[in-house]
Amino acid sequence: MAMMIFSLCIFCFLSLLLSYGVIEIEGSHHVCSNLLTLQLTSTHHQAKQPYRTGYHFQPPKNWINGPLIYKNVYHLFYQYNPNGVEWAANIVWAHSTSNDLVNWTPHDDAFYPSQPFDINGCWSGSATILPGGKPAIFYTGINSKTEQVQNLAFPKNLSDPFLREWVKITQNPLMVPTQANQINTDSFRDPSTAWLGPDNRWRLIIGSKNDQTGLAILYMSEDFLHWTMVDHHFHSAKENGMWECPDFFPVSKNSPIGLDTSTNGPDIKHVLKVSLFNTGKEYYTIGTYILDKDIYIPDEGSVESDSGMRYDYGKFYASKSFFDSAKNRRILWGWVNESSSAIDDIKKGWSGLQAIPRTLLLDKSGKQLVQWPIVELEKLRTKQVKLPSTVSKGGSLHEVLGVTAAQADVEVTFEITDFEKAEVLDPSWTDPQILCSEKSTSVKGGLGPFGLLVLASKGLQEYTAVFYRIFKSHNTTTNKYVVLLCSDQSRSSLNEDNDKTTYGAFVNVDPLHEKLSLRSLIDHSIVESFGGEGKTCITTRVYPTLAVHGDTHLYAFNFGRESVKIAGSAWSMSTAMINRSR
Ligand SMILES: *[C@@H]1O[C@H](CO)[C@@H](O)[C@H](O)[C@H]1NC(C)=O
Ligand SMILES: *[C@@H]1O[C@H](CO)[C@@H](O)[C@H](O)[C@H]1NC(C)=O
Ligand SMILES: *[C@@H]1O[C@H](CO)[C@@H](O)[C@H](O)[C@H]1NC(C)=O
Repeated sequence: MAMMIFSLCIFCFLSLLLSYGVIEIEGSHHVCSNLLTLQLTSTHHQAKQPYRTGYHFQPPKNWINGPLIYKNVYHLFYQYNPNGVEWAANIVWAHSTSNDLVNWTPHDDAFYPSQPFDINGCWSGSATILPGGKPAIFYTGINSKTEQVQNLAFPKNLSDPFLREWVKITQNPLMVPTQANQINTDSFRDPSTAWLGPDNRWRLIIGSKNDQTGLAILYMSEDFLHWTMVDHHFHSAKENGMWECPDFFPVSKNSPIGLDTSTNGPDIKHVLKVSLFNTGKEYYTIGTYILDKDIYIPDEGSVESDSGMRYDYGKFYASKSFFDSAKNRRILWGWVNESSSAIDDIKKGWSGLQAIPRTLLLDKSGKQLVQWPIVELEKLRTKQVKLPSTVSKGGSLHEVLGVTAAQADVEVTFEITDFEKAEVLDPSWTDPQILCSEKSTSVKGGLGPFGLLVLASKGLQEYTAVFYRIFKSHNTTTNKYVVLLCSDQSRSSLNEDNDKTTYGAFVNVDPLHEKLSLRSLIDHSIVESFGGEGKTCITTRVYPTLAVHGDTHLYAFNFGRESVKIAGSAWSMSTAMINRSR
């Protein structure tokens, strides 16, 4: 069981249909498997578990995962350990498919360690859809010498829409660390989706490091089989440590659609996302792909470090996007770790789940991405409850009645007419997470805190608070107001063994001219919040002891001194069919 305690599930999604998983054990081993977990968990068992989610993809037991699309069927591959403990020998790439990214059907495991080039583990990888529509998966194998090498697999039967069987090619491994290329044998993993350049050559990047410099190593190929390392790095950044799960893709500057990974042209920016092994945080930059030099250069001010941009400022790691060719959108999947103690994870018998897939677009400003839960999720919305449009005065709490508050989707807007009382943002308050912890829910401000109390118990002994505060900027040459979004978990559970870190981030909206919006997806032990229409996202895991099932309440609140007009809706969410069909 000790292994399970230290296992992290990390996965990346493959473009279009594939995904991969990585598991980190005791901080040093990563296993990525593209196996499916199809075991059924009995409904009876689920009913007893207050923290199992109703509409999030999660394994029956210890695991990880990733997705792709082929012939209009979405595939999710994830790491699954049938025995829950000995990852090395038993871990498999589990596999589920879906028509809507919401309901999932399990299949047999897709692959598992079996050859000298992956006998010690099948770690993360990515899918590429080749011209003509044939999927391919590159994954990191741990070979018999425990070195990290890159392997290729193809579906056995392209007529099978479920791609149930996969064949690892006999030429594997295709990319290996050698004396000549100086690649560190245990820092060479997570091949990205490959893209095709105008010269008809394939490229892909692999995460690595050199001392503490994070590296994206570039490989090229003319035939997808023979790959050569390029003698410069695609991109690198000092003091980042190991880069895992690099994801590189184009975004459209002027159209709200997603793009195939190989698309390029004048109306396109590029995004590079890296997962920092040292901190468990992900950063993305927006920049330019210089084709003739085959390098990526982030825009000025776009960095991969503490002040950089993140998809999610809470728990979210090893993410991977893929291009959904059926609906012309780019979809992001991320893995969400537990915040409970290892002992509680063992009691639950499972750990880790997938965030709701999000569409990814470049914001109008061109300076950041925006994310939104896939529209298909709205099929699970049942009863709608309208929040009465209220002008909420400082200190008020409005219960939202008639909704299953433990499993809900809430969308609210906050309108402010008088900004007089906003406090001035002290120039030293540069870290939004620290600011959120210091100015917790109970600290009355001028404008804010106002927001939602979710997964709350009747007497408010437990709640998770997702809220805004608005400050006057000390620098009036930029925005006049600064908007802070916080997710405060400090009162989320009477169980003191949980990690209750408060998360926070600034939201690049102008409250003078825009309504502030907040959407929260609440699902028993996860709260995914989208501020400013997806400009800033915060995902948290919480484990209430009183606010479970029918004893859960939902409130809108304003504890600031100034009035705020609150309007919106909440929906009870039905339970998705996830791996229950076998
Ligand atoms: C390939 O898959 C199709 C569709 O599922 C099936 O009808 C066919 O028998 C399969 N072929 C082989 C060789 O398994
Ligand atoms: C997962 O969560 C636990 C508990 O909060 C934390 O100790 C660990 O570092 C996290 N792992 C990752 C990869 O984020
Ligand atoms: C205010 O912001 C502008 C634009 O970001 C910057 O150039 C200027 O140095 C800032 N002034 C102060 C006093 O911080």
